[in-house]
Amino acid sequence: MNILLFGKNGQVGWELQCLLAPLGNVTALATSSTDYCGDFTNTAGIIATIRAIQPDVIVNAAAYTAVDKAESEPEQARLINAVTVEAIAKEAQALGAWLVHYSTDYVFPGNGEQAWVEEDATGPLNVYGASKLAGEQAIQRHCHKHLIFRTSWVYATKGSNFAKTMLRLAKERAELGIINDQCGAPTGADLLADCTAHAITAAQRDSSVAGLYHLVASGTTTWFEYASLVFTEARMAGVELVLNDAKPLPTSGYPTPAQRPLNSRLDNAKFQQTFGLNLPEWQAGVRRMLEELAALQAI
Ligand SMILES: NC(=O)c1ccc[n+]([C@@H]2O[C@H](COP(=O)([O-])OP(=O)(O)OC[C@H]3O[C@@H](n4cnc5c(N)ncnc54)[C@H](OP(=O)(O)O)[C@@H]3O)[C@@H](O)[C@H]2O)c1
Repeated sequence: MNILLFGKNGQVGWELQCLLAPLGNVTALATSSTDYCGDFTNTAGIIATIRAIQPDVIVNAAAYTAVDKAESEPEQARLINAVTVEAIAKEAQALGAWLVHYSTDYVFPGNGEQAWVEEDATGPLNVYGASKLAGEQAIQRHCHKHLIFRTSWVYATKGSNFAKTMLRLAKERAELGIINDQCGAPTGADLLADCTAHAITAAQRDSSVAGLYHLVASGTTTWFEYASLVFTEARMAGVELVLNDAKPLPTSGYPTPAQRPLNSRLDNAKFQQTFGLNLPEWQAGVRRMLEELAALQAI
C-alpha cells in the first residue's frame, strides 16, 4: 500500500509516522519538505505531489490549528483547512484513493450537556471551527472513500499542549485560575494514530466503513479537573511545583480572541461499534504521557 502522510511533524502526524509504517510504503511530508511540496498554502503544489506519488491512502494530519490567531487570519485558516483539503479530496476521488482526515469538536456550538453524535447539527463559534467544518464538508462532497475523525483536546509527548503548559506554570506560580466550565475528553495523539491504522486496515477489507466518526478517549472532564490530575501525577513522580492554589474559573473569567464551546463532549460509540475497538478512559493516556515526560526528564 502506498500511503501519503501530510503534517508529519504535528502531534498526530508524528505518531502516525510510526503507526502507519507497518501498513505499507509511507511518504511523510511537512510544510518545509523539499522532495515534494507539503505546504498547504500552495494548493497547486499539493495537487502535484498527489499526482506524482499516486497514493492508495492519503492521511491528512496537517491543519491550521492556532485557534485564537485564526480570528485575525481567516483566509489563511480557510486556505489550509478547507481550500487545499477540497483539492486533496478531488485528487483522492480521481485516484480511487482513501482520504483520512481529522476534524474537531469546535464544529459544534457547545450548548447543552449531551455528548454530540455525528448527525447533530453543527454551528461553529469561531473561525477555526468554521474552517474545519468547511474542510469536512468538502471531503464529504468530493471523495467517497473518506474517513473523517472528529477529535478533541489533543495532547502528545512531542509538541506543546495544555498539560505541559500547566506543568510549566505550576512550577512558576503559586496561584493559577483554570477553566472549569468547558467539558470534553483529552485524547492522545498516540491513540488517534493507533485507531487510524486499525481503521485503514478495516477500510481495505470493507469500504462500507467510509464516513464521519467521533474519535476521542472515553469519559469527559473539564480543563480544571484535567489540570488537577496532571498536578497530582507530577507531584507523585517527585516533581516540585510551587503551585498551592489552583482556582476553578468560568470561561467568562478568561477572555480569548476565539470563543470556545462549553460542551465539547463527543459520543464515540459509532467508532467503537464500527471498528470493534475499545476507546480507553481519558485518564489512562494522560498518565502515560506524564510517565513518558518524567522518564525523559522533561517535567
Ligand atoms: N490539537 C488539538 O487539540 C485538536 C483538537 C481537535 C482536532 N484537532 C485536529 O487534529 C489534527 C491534528 O492536530 P495536531 O494537534 O496534531 O496539530 P499540530 O500539532 O498543531 O500540528 C499541525 C500540523 O499542521 C502542519 N501545518 C500547519 N500549517 C501548514 C501548512 N501551511 N502546510 C502543511 N502543513 C501545515 C504543521 O506543520 P509544520 O510544523 O511543518 O508547519 C503541523 O505539523 C488537525 O486536523 C486538528 O485540526 C486537533
